[in-house]
Amino acid sequence: MIEYLEKQNVDQNLIKQVEIYREKNGLFDDPRVSEPEFKYYGKEVLEQAISAILAGKNILLTGAKATGKNVLSSNLAYLFARPSWNVSFHVNTDFNSLIGSDTFKDGEVVFRKGPIYEAATKGGFAVLDEINMAKNEAISVLHATLDHRRIIDLPGYEKINLDPNTRFIATMNYGYVGTREVNEALASRFMIINMPNITRENLDQLLMDTFPKLKEKYRNAFLDMFISLQFKSENNEISTKSVDLRGLISAIETMEVGLNPFDAILMGLANKSFDEFERQIVIDTIKTKVPPSIEESVFND
Ligand SMILES: Nc1ncnc2c1ncn2[C@@H]1O[C@H](COP(=O)(O)OP(=O)(O)OP(=O)(O)O)[C@@H](O)[C@H]1O
Ligand SMILES: [Mg+2]
Repeated sequence: MIEYLEKQNVDQNLIKQVEIYREKNGLFDDPRVSEPEFKYYGKEVLEQAISAILAGKNILLTGAKATGKNVLSSNLAYLFARPSWNVSFHVNTDFNSLIGSDTFKDGEVVFRKGPIYEAATKGGFAVLDEINMAKNEAISVLHATLDHRRIIDLPGYEKINLDPNTRFIATMNYGYVGTREVNEALASRFMIINMPNITRENLDQLLMDTFPKLKEKYRNAFLDMFISLQFKSENNEISTKSVDLRGLISAIETMEVGLNPFDAILMGLANKSFDEFERQIVIDTIKTKVPPSIEESVFND
């Protein structure tokens, strides 16, 4: 993990502080400390996130779909070697689902701990995923937990102080159906990182690491194609619908099974533009980089 930070050119002084933190607080045998499937690429964002966490802050990651918000969250928990809990927020998220609730067990009332409670007492990293899907009333129960008070105030129980290692990483995506504006009181409790679109360099690295057998010629073609789609959407020539890194990765995974690359890219990217006019622009852009007629395998054996 440290090696990965070095490869990303993360500031040496920060890496040193992460190492010291890990030596002091790392829980390397905890089953909730697990290596993420993907690495996050992006030096600046890594430095911002690591600094905030070292400073004891909670962070809120905002940005478009598939900008690596969840990937970064799980990398951070793993990097700091802390157990993590993931909580998906939705309209029905409430106190009970976050903190816990009274239930009957063997004829007695016991408190069943929710994920926030667990993370709070075990020094975990709690990922509050899509936090702007929840109602404000649900989130307000976390106000004292998220600010300098660092407590959970359970009515009828004792006040619980957060473990010093506990951190909250919230994610949100403006514009998805069902999302709300995050109110100022909530935003005020986080350091906020605006997740950028992936750079060409970082996407190159991601594809190389994820698909080591992908031929260089095709890696470059997919790279050019994706970056030009991203460019077109940044210039408002197309919407963001087809600019889907998740879709590109899925397309290459489908090519591994044997599907023609062009068809796989249609499924992963172009077909996400439901507007026929836009879909044609997307297809034309794809065609200039990835011809429909590739006969050979795009992978080395
Ligand atoms: N900078 C990046 N570094 C590594 N992977 C990235 C990066 N940006 C996007 N990805 C890739 O994009 C895909 C989606 O990542 P993730 O699920 O973290 O996105 P997200 O921002 O949470 O999206 P959403 O808002 O739709 O939930 C993953 O396959 C991930 O590897
Ligand atoms: Mg996400």
